[in-house]
Amino acid sequence: MLSIVEATLQIAPSILAADFARLGEEVGNIAPHVDLLHVDVMDGHFVPNISLGIPVIESLRPVTDLKFDCHLMMLNADYYFAPLKNAGADLVTVHVEVYPNPTGPAESARAEGLGFGLVINPPTPFEAVEPFIELCDMVVVMSVHPGFGGQSFIDASLQKIEAVRNFVESHGLLTDIEIDGGIGIANIRRAKDAGANVFVAGSSVFRAEDPVRAVEELRAEIRDTE
Ligand code: DX5
Ligand code: ZN
Repeated sequence: MLSIVEATLQIAPSILAADFARLGEEVGNIAPHVDLLHVDVMDGHFVPNISLGIPVIESLRPVTDLKFDCHLMMLNADYYFAPLKNAGADLVTVHVEVYPNPTGPAESARAEGLGFGLVINPPTPFEAVEPFIELCDMVVVMSVHPGFGGQSFIDASLQKIEAVRNFVESHGLLTDIEIDGGIGIANIRRAKDAGANVFVAGSSVFRAEDPVRAVEELRAEIRDTE
């Protein structure tokens, strides 16, 4: 039923699980082995946690050519698009729970030369993003409640991935479908089979004894073996 092009599969480590005292070193080490860098920005309002922001993104920019996928768990995310772009962001994703009609933020992001995506939380139905998928480079399905790394994967998120994949395929779109939260060797294959093509992995990469090997194992798990 689903036809995900192998070439579009991407592993996106989340730096939230890295050792912030050695962030440049950790990112430099993993960068040649991954496809995208997932940067979790939290404002302490939309989510009950504060993570990192623009100065950290700016400091990381010279470390790698990887695209920075900036997941904005923030209330006034669009206010920061220009400084995020200047700091080195490539793609910004905002929550549909913050922007029930994200047409304005999508236009602002494009005007800044940023890619744009929408994120959907576990309790929010697919129908909340459905009318706006065509505005997006990426749809992000949360498979944990946002705010913290290291949580358990919520299985019900796979049905939402399937719904997004069906929409994308039936409309002939090339939208990336990212799954974010609790991804590891035990579930990455199921996420791919449901239709995800971009896989965020925080703890399972940066908390592994050997992060590079952890990435290679995740990649092997989603490779087609025929
Ligand atoms: C949660 C973040 C996730 C998180 C993923 O608020 O959006 O990106 O860092 O981390 P793990 O893989 O540890 O669940
Ligand atoms: Zn995230």
